[in-house]
Amino acid sequence: MDAVEVTQAVKQRVQELRQLLDKASYAYYVQDAPIMEDAIYDRLYRELQDLEAQYPELVTPDSITQRVGEKPATQFSSVRHNIPLYSLENAFNIQEFAKWQERWRRQVPELNAFEYVAELKIDGSAIALTYERGILVRGTTRGDGIAGEDITQNVRTIRAIPLRLNLENPPTHVEVRGEAFLGLDVFKQINQERQQAGDQLFANPRNAAAGTLRQLDSRIVAKRRLDFFAYTLQIPEKRDAEVALTQWKSLELLQKMGFKVNPNRKRCQSLEDVRDYYDEWNTGRLNLPYMTDGVVVKLNSIPLQEKLGFTQKFPRWAVALKYAAEEAPTRVEKISINVGRTGALTPLAELQPVQLAGTTVQRATLHNIDYVRSLDIRIGDTVIIHKAGEIIPEVVRVLPELRPEGTQAFQMPTCCPVCNQPVVKPVDEAVTRCVNASCPAILKGALVHWASRNALDINGMGEKLMHQLVDKGVVNSVADLYDLTADRLGTLERMGKKLAQKLVDAIAHSKTQPWSRVLYGLGIRHVGSVNAQTLTQKFTTVEQLAWAFPSDIKAVYGIGPEIAHAVYDWFQVPANQTLIDRLKAAGLQLTAQVETPSAESRSVPSPLQGKTFVITGTLPTLKRDEAKALIEKAGGKVTGSISAKTDYLLVGEDAGSKLEKAEALGITQLSEAELLEIVED
Ligand code: IVH
Repeated sequence: MDAVEVTQAVKQRVQELRQLLDKASYAYYVQDAPIMEDAIYDRLYRELQDLEAQYPELVTPDSITQRVGEKPATQFSSVRHNIPLYSLENAFNIQEFAKWQERWRRQVPELNAFEYVAELKIDGSAIALTYERGILVRGTTRGDGIAGEDITQNVRTIRAIPLRLNLENPPTHVEVRGEAFLGLDVFKQINQERQQAGDQLFANPRNAAAGTLRQLDSRIVAKRRLDFFAYTLQIPEKRDAEVALTQWKSLELLQKMGFKVNPNRKRCQSLEDVRDYYDEWNTGRLNLPYMTDGVVVKLNSIPLQEKLGFTQKFPRWAVALKYAAEEAPTRVEKISINVGRTGALTPLAELQPVQLAGTTVQRATLHNIDYVRSLDIRIGDTVIIHKAGEIIPEVVRVLPELRPEGTQAFQMPTCCPVCNQPVVKPVDEAVTRCVNASCPAILKGALVHWASRNALDINGMGEKLMHQLVDKGVVNSVADLYDLTADRLGTLERMGKKLAQKLVDAIAHSKTQPWSRVLYGLGIRHVGSVNAQTLTQKFTTVEQLAWAFPSDIKAVYGIGPEIAHAVYDWFQVPANQTLIDRLKAAGLQLTAQVETPSAESRSVPSPLQGKTFVITGTLPTLKRDEAKALIEKAGGKVTGSISAKTDYLLVGEDAGSKLEKAEALGITQLSEAELLEIVED
């Protein structure tokens, strides 16, 4: 294979990763004050490992990958483990597990049948326990795997650990390994107490458990209610070899001896069995009273384990199959500003691309300046981004310890980055806005909205085309669309005569759309398509609405003061009045047509015919099934998740991520009152 050339960027990244990992590792192991979560550490570690594998010439003896852990802090006496405490290789999905399986199977090609034991990977701190003639004589932390710290006094306080083995005739020497951890409720309680006392909070139960184990005052440890699951039994003299020839039997024996052994274990005969177990606990773990970050798959046969042995760091016979991180660290390369159709300036973090929950993330919204300030996100920062399922990625926090020197707090620009006109930010609002009605960004947004499905529904007038029309100066207002000719359109890139004519026809067809859609298409703040329908039922001509006072508008059932003011303000702007005049001249419907209902529509009114709804949050009066029944009765359909096909989001109190997604997709939101009004009409 050809040598791969090392670029400057790679060298720099390797350097940077080592610095980050060293810093985090020191904070964790020596100072007992973690600055990084394990999942994140794992990711960075892995990135470094991969780079070093790809460019072996970059490996140095002081790279963090060249050692197993950190030296223990000096307060406790250091003890060498009789048998090293290995850690586990990670697989992050079932494909990686399959590769791991391939690897060990190559070592024993003669083997046909085998069995795994799958266990939950408890997210705590590994400890080793030594029993002599059945009596607990020592407890140690994992340390660097070779030597750990003597925490016997602390271990004695853990009630799940027997002080004397429940055995008739105990062997001289028994080694038990397992995971010390804190239950979620205990963890919560500890953090509450720390908050009241003004102490720094533990980042997660794992750190809390590790910190507790290394408490010098064992009375504090006793109060913390540590828990323990045993998972390995070693009897060097092998007196009991016949009873512990498999991992499964070891676990049973541990249980008999008086240890707590996690009950959620399973024997697996195939990759499919492992996958089922992994999938089952991916959701099942959410209901457990403690944290798990994956499953551990071990070869059941202990003779086979011995045959396969260990690499430098890991057993070859076991692997940690981890659950996908929904959080990942990355770096903010730039903060850019997006200007939306309402003129809102939204800061966006441009990120170093990172894999997260199955997609590559390069950008995350920072919402507004208040959000940026509250987290103090700066260019150059290492940040944690979060993305669960389909949700839009978000920066959840900054790792200030990893901040490069000389950064400055982020400031919103004082001028719109698109039109260069001054922006405004009302003191009581989070949003900074460009208020220049002819700002190209606002205009583009307005045009796209105008042509959208629930507005004028102009087929073929998509975002790209609209942007081109604005950039070329062909269209400066929504009204200009109605002056377009096929010849003029034909001068655009990749625009044939036929297509140009089709577009002109589609634009002409939009003149038949009802007044309610025109009103919605104007994009007045807070006037979604439902409000537009409500308003046009009461104000059947544009003149009526344009002349109405906020009090008149507010008087309409379902229309609040915010909407009323937004509508009133909109009609006061001279440019908007000109727009209305031009639209009227172009022949758009600015008056409600008196509908003469047909015979069938009189007998079966279905106001929501063909509309797709999603419900989120708690509705003020209706239960979810009741709302669903109402929608269905009116001809609509209710689905579970937001997609481009969703027409309406019915929003109640404490709406969650669905609301965010709906906002991002520009889906119309409805309150219960609005729904009731439509249905009752
Ligand atoms: S077996 C020689 N089983 O995961 C292999 N480890 O990432 C010994 N862990 O250091 C480990 N639950 O602290 C094993 N059921 C389980 C586990 C488990 C949690 C931890 C353990 C280990 C780490 C490796």
